[in-house]
Amino acid sequence: MKNDYVSEIHKKDKLVLHPYEDMESRGTYDRKLIVKSDNIYLYDENGKEYIDGPGGMWCNNIGHGNKEIGEAVKNQLEKLEYCSPFSESSEISAELASVLSELSPGDLNTVFFTTDGSTANDTALRFIMFYNNILDRPNKKHFITRHKAYHGSTYLTGSITGKDREKNNFDFEKNFIHHLSSPLSYRRKNNQTIEEFCDELVKEFEDKIIELGSENVAAFIAEPVMASGGCIVPPEGYLKRIWQICKKYDVLYISDEVVTGFGRMGHFFSSEEVFDIVPDIITCAKGITSGYMPLGAVLFSDKLLNDIKKESALFFHGYTYSGHPACCAAALKNIEIIKRDKILEHVQEIEPYFHNKLQKLYELPIVGDVRGKGLMAGIECVINKDSKEALILDKAIGSRIDEESIKLGLIIRPLYHICVLSPALIITKSQIDDLVEKLFTAIQNSLQQLKTEGLWKD
Ligand SMILES: Cc1ncc(COP(=O)(O)O)c(C=O)c1O
Repeated sequence: MKNDYVSEIHKKDKLVLHPYEDMESRGTYDRKLIVKSDNIYLYDENGKEYIDGPGGMWCNNIGHGNKEIGEAVKNQLEKLEYCSPFSESSEISAELASVLSELSPGDLNTVFFTTDGSTANDTALRFIMFYNNILDRPNKKHFITRHKAYHGSTYLTGSITGKDREKNNFDFEKNFIHHLSSPLSYRRKNNQTIEEFCDELVKEFEDKIIELGSENVAAFIAEPVMASGGCIVPPEGYLKRIWQICKKYDVLYISDEVVTGFGRMGHFFSSEEVFDIVPDIITCAKGITSGYMPLGAVLFSDKLLNDIKKESALFFHGYTYSGHPACCAAALKNIEIIKRDKILEHVQEIEPYFHNKLQKLYELPIVGDVRGKGLMAGIECVINKDSKEALILDKAIGSRIDEESIKLGLIIRPLYHICVLSPALIITKSQIDDLVEKLFTAIQNSLQQLKTEGLWKD
């Protein structure tokens, strides 16, 4: 691309307030411009190729540059671009609802369409408040969530999010939201076994319900594997035990499958097939269209809807773009491709290879933990492997690794001292080799920088 044109675009881009933008530095630097995509790769204005390590924002499941989805969207727009979901229905949203209810576990057969993951979780939470009001249980309003969870950027979903950084300078609901410990076994107490750690988490949960009174606790919400909290895989059996406690105390269970859905764990939904639970509500987004179009969905159990069927009450909740025809067309084609190209089977087959390869990173003195499940991974950097002190010096090591990776043609997602990966599900073994090689070198180069700057001594 011509330099003048690129400078012009950079100038215009400074008019955009981007998500998670720093107020001080915004407008002072040029963001990387991505102009093309294909397979697991993104290309910048100079034609430089990058492996898209995070798969966009954990959403690029079938890979970039698929032409069939574009065709399906175009055909749908030409046939019917929009009708109001408040008063009419479209064939395509009804088709998608039917496919989702087939794919979902248990009796989760009713679908509410949203525009993204935040609005899917917001809908789930608002629905539960509505449900308990109708059932004349106005006090059953408390939500239990976990530290390091991420559930979205609306007021309510931002409030149930458990990431401290994301709470800076914002206001949040505190009265009916309770954050429990995150299930990060890497940071369990010294000498504690994983089983003891799990027992502690489960006890903390049950104690919280007893403290609040089960008549006041509405729901528990959890990502099966925490994504942007640092790719946190819970201890074996943890989710199932929490789910059983929810049933014991009549507390609803919301499984946030915004990241884990549509193949990332090797299944359309991981709640039942991987973690052996059938939640009352599943929320999903991202991989539902592989990020080609914005769409979210909430899957409700028949029981929930039946419980309030007799009552005359309007569900005054909805979005102009609930079930947008073009987005539903993208989702249906995406699901068709996942099935036809046996992408779930591919993930199941390649998952051990991905995690085994990443073990090589332990050779580096600053890599303390390499964890993950499905095609998701988190690499946590520490000052000392024994003390596990997080490697946050003058600036978080994640940003240095990010800068070094970019030079090598790899995009990662830095979260302070953690790098997370969730590449497209079609990634091959040789592409995994390439990704790990680049990441290894980027971490090595970042360590060298620390040494040169006198921030690290062997
Ligand atoms: C687990 C989880 N839930 C919800 C969301 C919010 O989704 P969205 O950004 O589409 O609103 C995200 C986004 O990263 C997520 O990771």
